[in-house]
Amino acid sequence: MARGILHSMSNSAKLIFDDKEIELPVTVGSEAETGIDISKLRSQTGAITLDPSFANTGACESAITYIDGEQGILRYRGYDIEELAANASFPEVCFLLIYGRLPTAEERVDFRRRLTRHSLVHEDMKLLFEGLPSTAHPMVTLSAMIASLSAYYPDDETPEEIDQNIIRLLAKAKTLAAFAYKKSIGQPFMYPQNDRTYIENFQLMMFSVPCEPYEVNQVVRRALNKLMILHADHEQNCSTTTVRTVGSSGANLFSSISSGISALWGPLHGGANQAVIEMLEMIQNDGANYQKYVDMTKSKDSDFKLMGFGHRVYKNFDPRARILKEAADEVLESLGVDDPLLDIAKRLEEVALADPYFIERKLYPNVDFYSGVLYRAMGIPTNMFTVMFALGRLPGWIAHWLEQRDAPGTRISRPRQIYTGETVRDWVPLDKRAEGIPGGLNHEYQMGLPDDN
Ligand code: CMC
Repeated sequence: MARGILHSMSNSAKLIFDDKEIELPVTVGSEAETGIDISKLRSQTGAITLDPSFANTGACESAITYIDGEQGILRYRGYDIEELAANASFPEVCFLLIYGRLPTAEERVDFRRRLTRHSLVHEDMKLLFEGLPSTAHPMVTLSAMIASLSAYYPDDETPEEIDQNIIRLLAKAKTLAAFAYKKSIGQPFMYPQNDRTYIENFQLMMFSVPCEPYEVNQVVRRALNKLMILHADHEQNCSTTTVRTVGSSGANLFSSISSGISALWGPLHGGANQAVIEMLEMIQNDGANYQKYVDMTKSKDSDFKLMGFGHRVYKNFDPRARILKEAADEVLESLGVDDPLLDIAKRLEEVALADPYFIERKLYPNVDFYSGVLYRAMGIPTNMFTVMFALGRLPGWIAHWLEQRDAPGTRISRPRQIYTGETVRDWVPLDKRAEGIPGGLNHEYQMGLPDDN
């Protein structure tokens, strides 16, 4: 039997719960998004709200990125993603997300200069790379290296120190990412050069070798610029929420961002771009039988999902995927690459989008569906795809880390739970515990190992 009724009014909502009526304030955002403020609910009613996976919970107010999932709108600080992808440079978007406005001409030059000057990493960090196996996934290397920056660069206290560490992080992350790649293929690390732009330096460190002159491929540079802009922020996604949560404990910038990198790695999040290519290859090797894979997603006996499809927020289309689909054709043509995986991706999209299962659930290609095909065409290996996502997402994570830190009345993130375990029970001495434990006594006990007391 229902115990509560919620009535909404213009600037407050009324909740009737256990015959008690309470009024809840309503917060409306600048794009008319509406949130019922339940922060006092427990003290007023004794109850909490339950929203597994936070699908319907606003964890903060934020002025950084706006998404309208129904309309397919994505804006950073008010600027449409289409305009930014067409016109901006990635460092400009970093500035925009972090400082809240576009840089002036002078600020743009100064910001780029600082990003270039701080690109080198402490030489001792090369010893950390040596300690990792060459088979390490570059995401684990990147996460470890970003966390390690805290050991080399002092903790951030004053606004100036924080700003310096933000620049260091943005500048050094691409060096660390390229070193992670070089380590994985056993080539010497290549150093950045001060006369190169942000993206050119990344290309140089990834693709050049000491014994050969290197000319930056401008098609690749432009495509990387676009890809990084498209990934730069996406409001309260899994990794950004992780960064904000870790940051809310007072953890420093580098540690907080490193935790975001770990969250991003999962195949349901940033790891999907690698998973998409692996899936497309599987479909190709299996005779390009699209319907078989679409059918597999529907089967109750299979937990197979079309990677690069679906989104928690976008229920019409993902604007980033649209831009990338167009870019994929152009880039592959300019590079003279004929990749059968692009055709497979397009055919799979057609078959899936015509299928009632995908129509009913509003499942569309997301940003990860076409990004992998682009990275492949540029010669970036599959296990580096999620690293590319992380490099692009850095300014968003930084902006959110700063925003939560500076928010008035900010508190440590600490959700509640509904406990479903045992109620209180009596202690059982060790010699009485065999009964009822599947398999008898615990393994260590049977092996005669000392207990850990
Ligand atoms: N293929 C087949 N079915 C799917 C898919 C998919 N890719 N995604 C969702 N569904 C189904 C899901 O099984 C569920 O069906 P039912 O209602 O019958 O149980 C329904 O659609 C709703 O899905 P959901 O799992 O409740 O959606 P979610 O909001 O919890 O998850 C998602 C969103 C992105 C994790 C999910 O769509 C997914 O796993 N997609 C594949 C992985 C992927 O491409 N991730 C990249 C996301 S975009 C980049 C980023 O922000 O990280």
